Amino acid sequence: VSLKDYNTFGIEAIARQFVQIRQEQDLEELFAQQVFEKEQLLFLGGGSNMLFVHDYEGLVVHMNMRGITHEIKEDGVVVLAKAGELWNDVVNYCVAHGFGGIENLSLIPGTAGAAPVQNIGAYGVELKDVFQSCKAFDIANGIFTTFDKNDCAFGYRESIFKGKYKGRYLITEINLLLSRQSEVNTRYGAIQEELERRRITSPTIRDVAEVVSAIRVEKLPDPSTIGNAGSFFKNPIVSVDTFNRLVSNFVDIVYFPFGQNQFKLAAGWLIEKCGWKGKTVGNTGTWKNQALVLVNHGNSTGLEIYELSEKIIESVQERFGITLEREVNVIA
Ligand code: EPU
Repeated sequence: VSLKDYNTFGIEAIARQFVQIRQEQDLEELFAQQVFEKEQLLFLGGGSNMLFVHDYEGLVVHMNMRGITHEIKEDGVVVLAKAGELWNDVVNYCVAHGFGGIENLSLIPGTAGAAPVQNIGAYGVELKDVFQSCKAFDIANGIFTTFDKNDCAFGYRESIFKGKYKGRYLITEINLLLSRQSEVNTRYGAIQEELERRRITSPTIRDVAEVVSAIRVEKLPDPSTIGNAGSFFKNPIVSVDTFNRLVSNFVDIVYFPFGQNQFKLAAGWLIEKCGWKGKTVGNTGTWKNQALVLVNHGNSTGLEIYELSEKIIESVQERFGITLEREVNVIA
């Protein structure tokens, strides 16, 4: 099976075996056939955070369970989304119903089931802020388990599903605790600027969703026309000492305070300062409006993109003494 339509980079790669999961029972059946023991496995949602560098010799398990429902509670509303729903469809559902909390996460590519894996985040909100629990299938013993927020070890683009339990649990549904009040989070500078530009003084949930969508459309390439996986690298987190050294050499460095005594640097800025912004290298390159995004200009191989990422890491290392870490999963 070709994976070209299953990864937002639009990279051609072949999966030796491929299976669609449409209901929980499908997982139990595969478990009974001992499929999970015999095969090398890759769990795939929307493929929005993956780079295929080669064909995949094992079994690709595509999560395709659908359904979004909600239940009104005393302290808000719990929205349940099956793993295969597109994340942005979940956002649209919530915005349409007036449920607040994920409007800042508008237009993030990928599926609901993949959202907890890297604790998706944007414009001042992370999934963990609204996450209540998820249901997951343990491929080691064929049992469904519930993970509460505290079980998930969420961090910046991190969770237990990327760490200790990598490759063990398949998330089948997520539960979000959202608000029925119309309070919104507009602390992120870009949101404030756009609201001001639109002369909106008391923004609704829908206003914030629209503003965030507009910012993303302006800054980020649309994967349906230009292959990409959003930010290719994480924003590096550095100590006060490293930060002080950098600031004294590079006065205009872009950063955000992170926790008690660390700083998060804008990787896009570091990459831009190394001269990579909007550069084309063969079939690949970085995006003209956001250097942190690597793109497939058409017919690029995964290896070409990977090699470009290596060059970028080298440049940033040489110039700033900082090692960028990939956010995208490289499937080698
Ligand atoms: N910047 C540059 N040059 C660039 C890009 C950015 O100088 O080419 C500087 C600018 O000063 C800009 C600042 O970096 O103001 C921050 O840029 P931006 O607001 O675009 O955010 P980011 O830090 O580059 C992160 C997330 C994005 C998320 C945005 C908005 C990571 C790895 N990325 O990007 O998430 O949409 O914040 O909250 O944390 C993703 O993970 O795929 C993703 C797109």
